[in-house]
Amino acid sequence: MCGIVGIVGNQPVAGRLVDALKRLEYRGYDSAGVATLKDGAMERRRAEGKLFNLEKLLSEKPLAGEIGIAHTRWATHGVPNEINAHPHFVDGVAVVHNGIIENFAALKTELMAEGAIFTSQTDTEVVAHLLARYRREGLDGKAAMLAMLNRVEGAYALLVMFADEPEKLYAARFGPPLAVGHGRGEMFLGSDAIALSPFTHEITYLVDGDCAILSRDTVEIVDFSGKPVSRQKQISQAAAFMVDKGNHRHFMEKEIYEQPEVISHALSHYVDLAGLTVKPADPAIDFANLRGLAISACGTAYLAGLVGKYWFERYARLPVEIDVASEFRYREMPLSKDQAALFISQSGETADTLASLRYCRQEGLAIGAVVNVRESTIGREADAIFPILAGPEIGVASTKAFTCQLAVMASLAVAAGKARGLITAVEEQEMVGHLAEMPRIMSKVLNAIQPQMENLSRELSRFKDVLYLGRGTSYPLALEGALKLKEISYIHAEGYAAGELKHGPIALIDENMPVIVIAPHDRFFEKTVSNMQEVAARGGRIIFITDETGAKAARLDTMATIVLPDVAEIIAPMVFSLPIQLLAYHTAVFMGTDVDQPRNLAKSVTVE
Ligand code: G6P
Repeated sequence: MCGIVGIVGNQPVAGRLVDALKRLEYRGYDSAGVATLKDGAMERRRAEGKLFNLEKLLSEKPLAGEIGIAHTRWATHGVPNEINAHPHFVDGVAVVHNGIIENFAALKTELMAEGAIFTSQTDTEVVAHLLARYRREGLDGKAAMLAMLNRVEGAYALLVMFADEPEKLYAARFGPPLAVGHGRGEMFLGSDAIALSPFTHEITYLVDGDCAILSRDTVEIVDFSGKPVSRQKQISQAAAFMVDKGNHRHFMEKEIYEQPEVISHALSHYVDLAGLTVKPADPAIDFANLRGLAISACGTAYLAGLVGKYWFERYARLPVEIDVASEFRYREMPLSKDQAALFISQSGETADTLASLRYCRQEGLAIGAVVNVRESTIGREADAIFPILAGPEIGVASTKAFTCQLAVMASLAVAAGKARGLITAVEEQEMVGHLAEMPRIMSKVLNAIQPQMENLSRELSRFKDVLYLGRGTSYPLALEGALKLKEISYIHAEGYAAGELKHGPIALIDENMPVIVIAPHDRFFEKTVSNMQEVAARGGRIIFITDETGAKAARLDTMATIVLPDVAEIIAPMVFSLPIQLLAYHTAVFMGTDVDQPRNLAKSVTVE
């Protein structure tokens, strides 16, 4: 994940900016840069690789100036080299950016037609060109920022400096986090409070849709239409080199809200977001010639695998054998060398998953590890590592690791379908295009549904039993919804395939057991609606999680209907994960449980 820092100060900033970048190193990066402004002139230093290279460059060619911006880049569009490293400069405008500008290709074509010359392969450069264009047209810095923000689409945290406004820094957030630090005669901006902890503990967290204008003594925050908004200042507990909760009550909440950002990083490892193509999968797994795939994992990671099964079978026509690792390892499953095995594990240390891996190793299968910790045992013992790049997950109940595992599985399924000649170039572009939209859609959904989820959770916390239903990829989501709820709220919850309702759980339906139905308007929608009717006919209360088309089509009496935007089938599991996570989270908060460390559960289970 990219890291961002900015200082409008009263003493030289270059060294302090680089120190702050060091505190963001944990986010991962492959190049870095810093720019300062002095006497109306901006200068920058950028270097590929670790911060050490940037520091060396700065010691040879120091930068003066009491205002500046800096960045660690985790490449999404364009390779990690000096030219693509931030800050990007265009005619007195300097920009650093974390996230994805989705409509960069259209904007680039428009700007090039006006004569703009692009020097990098990044999506970020369009922001600098757009701002330069608005400044040429006579807009001041603030007006140019607002005009630009109304043109770009995507998920972004941006920091901007103008050569002719030497007392100001501009920032904007839609998706990735951004925090303002209040100093004495100085102001700071950073991707998180940890980066700013040596400078100040007085922090204001920007929310999506905020544009901030900082001077040495003032912070003005407006929305993208220019209307002032007020955001509270708070005292951060962050200390350098510590993962903190930001402005969230729990790590779980922070991790839920981090998803748009981390998913864009996970995606950019597997797909070319500029060309809208999938990158070929690690050759250690020869998807083109496989006869089948075995997947094994535990807990939430297993449910990510179950969604993956639907995708691999549908998009790559690859039969998938999947089981929880504690069963898989002892099943003595006949396997052959023309199958490959995938092990999904956030920690990469889960004992049963590791034992399943070793079983497949004995059987001679090629082994892929879908892990968050690359150096983990499962990562080290695999032939191919498919990192999920979710960043450290502290909450025991997995949230961002789950959606990143899904993003990786979706990308791999498309890559496999392509390798097997089943996905055309047009289909590939369409599917990757949908994946690329996901961070933005997830940001929007998180903002839109939060109040409803909180209210609904208050009601849900009064019940003792809850049933989750879904079909297709919504079936594993129903299992995950129930798992999440029981793990942290201790309410008894079960997940079922909607079609199985009649084969058992229908006996339990009454007004004391809410039924949460996950049903985007997909191929199965009508069938799931029939199941909902069966529930309604028996006096059951329904919480209906659907999309706009589904909400219009169903016309049912529900306890609540949660309406998400209509999204493509391939991204629905990630988007529909958000309400089930928030529902579990807020219910647990109402119940007063230890949300981040629920009783009896462990983050990493290294015993059988
Ligand atoms: C524990 C955790 C779960 C996790 C599971 C698998 O049960 O509480 O959140 O899904 O282990 O862990 P892994 O690290 O292998 O993904």
